[in-house]
Formats: sequence, C-alpha cells, structure tokens
Amino acid sequence: MKCDIKNKNLRQEGKKRIEWALNRMPVLEQVRMRFAKTKPLKGVTIGACLHVTTETAALALTLKAAGARPSVCASNPLSTQDDVAASLVFDYGIEVFAIKGENTKTYYSHIDSVLKNNPQITLDDGADLISVIHKRARTSKTQRLPWASTEETTTGVIRLKSLEGQGKLLYPIIAVNDAYTKHLFDNRYGTGQSTMDGIVRATNKLIAGTNVVVCGYGWCGKGVSIRAKGLGANVIICEADPLKALEAVMDGFRVLPVKEAAKIGDIFVTVTGDINVISKEDFPLMKDRVLVANAGHFDVEIDIKSLAALATKKKEVKPLVTEYTLKNKKRIYVLGEGRLVNLACAEGHPAEVMDLSFANQALSAEFIAKNHRKLKKKVYKVPDEIDSRVAALKLSSMGIRIDKLTTQQKKYLASWEVGT
Ligand code: NAI
Repeated sequence: MKCDIKNKNLRQEGKKRIEWALNRMPVLEQVRMRFAKTKPLKGVTIGACLHVTTETAALALTLKAAGARPSVCASNPLSTQDDVAASLVFDYGIEVFAIKGENTKTYYSHIDSVLKNNPQITLDDGADLISVIHKRARTSKTQRLPWASTEETTTGVIRLKSLEGQGKLLYPIIAVNDAYTKHLFDNRYGTGQSTMDGIVRATNKLIAGTNVVVCGYGWCGKGVSIRAKGLGANVIICEADPLKALEAVMDGFRVLPVKEAAKIGDIFVTVTGDINVISKEDFPLMKDRVLVANAGHFDVEIDIKSLAALATKKKEVKPLVTEYTLKNKKRIYVLGEGRLVNLACAEGHPAEVMDLSFANQALSAEFIAKNHRKLKKKVYKVPDEIDSRVAALKLSSMGIRIDKLTTQQKKYLASWEVGT
C-alpha cells in the first residue's frame, strides 16, 4: 500500500473517530449502501485532494464501496488528521499522502503521488490539484487529463471559473460548492460553528462580551457572525459588497471599514477568499492582546508577512498560537498560522453537515462516471435533481416530513391566468 503519513500507530484512534463520523452521516450511508450493490464507479481511479478528516474518510469509503480506487492527499498543509490518515491506509486499504504540518514542497509532492495514479475523476478543495494538472498539461503533451473533477469550495470555484473565462479550462468541473445543499449548510453552519470551536480550542477565550470582527459577510461570514453573537459577542462586520453590507446591517450587526474595526476588535476573523484583508496598516491600530484568525480557504487573508516585519518579537505561546509583539508593545496573537482556523485548531466541520456536502461529492462522482462523454470543458452546477435528493434524504434521516404540492397547486404555480 503506497502512502506517506505521520505514524501508523495512530490508526486505532483514527478508526474510532472515523466510526463516530460514519454514524453521523446517514445520507452518505444510504448512498454507500446503494453504491455497494450497484458499483457505479467500478474500476474508476479517483484522486481526491481534500482535508484529510474523519468525514473525508467516510467519503473515501463510499467511493471504495462503489468499486473505485481512491487515493487521497491533503488540500491544506495544516488540516490533516494524522490518526485518520493512518487508519485509512492500514484499516481500510486506501492510499493517503498527507501529514499535518507538511511544508509546501511535501504538500505538492503529495499531490504528485495522487496524480501518479492517473485519476479518471478528481475531487478537489481549493483547486490546487486541478491547477497542477493544468500547469503540467501546458508543458507536457503526455499529461493525462481526468474525465472531470468536482470542486468543494468557493475559492476553488472562483479559480476554476477564472480558468474557464480565459478559455483555458481543460476538463469539466462540477461545482459542488454551488449546490444549495452545500453552501447553505456547510459554509454557513459548518464554518460558523467550527470556526468558533477552533478559536476556543486554541485559546479557551471567553467570547461573551468581546468585540468579534468578521471580515466578509458571505455564506461563511454569516455563519461565523451568528455563532459569535450566540456566544455573547458584539459582532462587527467588514464588507466590500454594498448588498452584503446592507444585509449585515438589517441582520442587526454593526458594519465598519476594517480600519475602524481594527481599533475596537478583540477577535478578528477573516472569511472572504480575498487577499490582505487585514493588512500592514491595520495591525498598529489594534488593541493589546487581540486574536486574529482566518477561516477563508488560503492563508492570504491576514498579511502575516507584514505583521512579522512590524514585530520586534515573535514566539509560539501555545500550540498554533503565535504572539507577535509590535514596537508599540502591543501583542497580536495569530491562530493556526493564518490557515483555516477551524481545521488547523479544531476538527473542521461536524459530520452532520459534511453528510450533505459529501453526499453531493459522491453523487457527482457517479454522475461524472455516467455522463463524462457528454460534458464540455465547463464549470457545471450540481444537477438540481441531486441537490434536492440530498435535501430530501437528509430530512428523512432527521425524521422530518414536509408537505407535498397537490396537482391543483402545481398547476397554479406554473400558470399566469389567475390573478386578483
Ligand atoms: P462568499 O463569496 O459567499 O463570501 C465572501 C464575502 O467576502 C463576500 O460577501 C465578499 O464581498 C466579501 N469580501 C471579499 N473581499 C473582501 C474584503 N477585502 N473586505 C471585506 N469583505 C470582502 O464566500 P464564502 O462561501 O463565504 O467563502 C469564503 C471563504 O471561505 C472562501 O475562501 C471559501 O473557499 C472558504 N471556505 C472555508 C471553509 C472552512 O472550512 N473554513 C468552508 C467553506 C468555504
């Protein structure tokens, strides 16, 4: 079994935690049971560049049950759960190349290990694996292209739409992030809860009574804001889009530009997918002992290089908590090196929400296997039929029943004739 993981001996702990997740992902379980009978991915090689967590293990097992040969690498150097990686390899026979804390060179060598299997389907989270394939294909005529790929997150979809816009996309993409049953729940409730979880686990800070500044009021930002508010914080939103800013105002939050929020925040969370959202000029404005964390996909949202240049001292005061002392003696604590705080400092999204996202992933992989010959070099939505099936399965697993439209209602809703 090919692999590069931290420690085989962690497998027992990993297995227990994978089982915990498996028991909390009923939609994926139903998909897995069907896949085990029908084998829709028989013999298909799959390369997955995802956060190596218990929920990703559940997805990998679902793909394997479908007859696929999955191999997995990390989509972030700090998000790997080493015990899960060990168990996937030694209990479940799945190739994994991922070590928490790996450097950039190892991160890309792990992507390379997955690509050596020439995957027919790729699953990506952030589009790093897809962009390696695209860069290679430019220089090598022998680079085999997959049938298609899925993409899990907003930043990845933005990168891929940019490739598509430039006419450079080489194979079809299913934008899993854009399914309603993904971003409405995973980005909002998953990121919301796990980001606060990461901040609390890293620092044990009391949130009640603090000023929490959330930069970005998109799906993730809304989730972080409501959870911070629920913990008793005064939440301040920084936004660049007038519509989102107005929404934040009407949702009852104070909205300020970053430069003003910098002076009053106790905890800062960036979740925009943008670069240098908290920048060089903002750090000197901050109060002493503030916490700064990022939950956006890449570690570019907080300008840590400039912070390091401004600092007279830098030290790790707790695992994944770095203290920077500025010339004005104020201390700024960066969590998780500015990488996704929910994965670096906690366990990422809860299984219950990844149930939805990864059911979309598994069903999209099945869709690709069936339809790849018909797909063009485009970024596609997850078919609506998959999206509503995932929602219906989740409701039924929760024991919740909903109303059914009558024939008369369906007819009325599709008509224009009846007015006042
Ligand atoms: P979104 O597009 O719904 O929201 C982003 C918001 O940030 C937009 O409203 C935009 O106007 C705002 N924004 C952009 N630049 C800004 C700036 N300079 N200052 C203030 N606001 C700015 O995106 P979504 O889905 O909320 O995702 C945000 C990021 O989180 C992405 O990088 C995404 O990939 C990542 N993500 C992270 C997860 C995690 O587990 N931590 C889970 C899901 C997504």
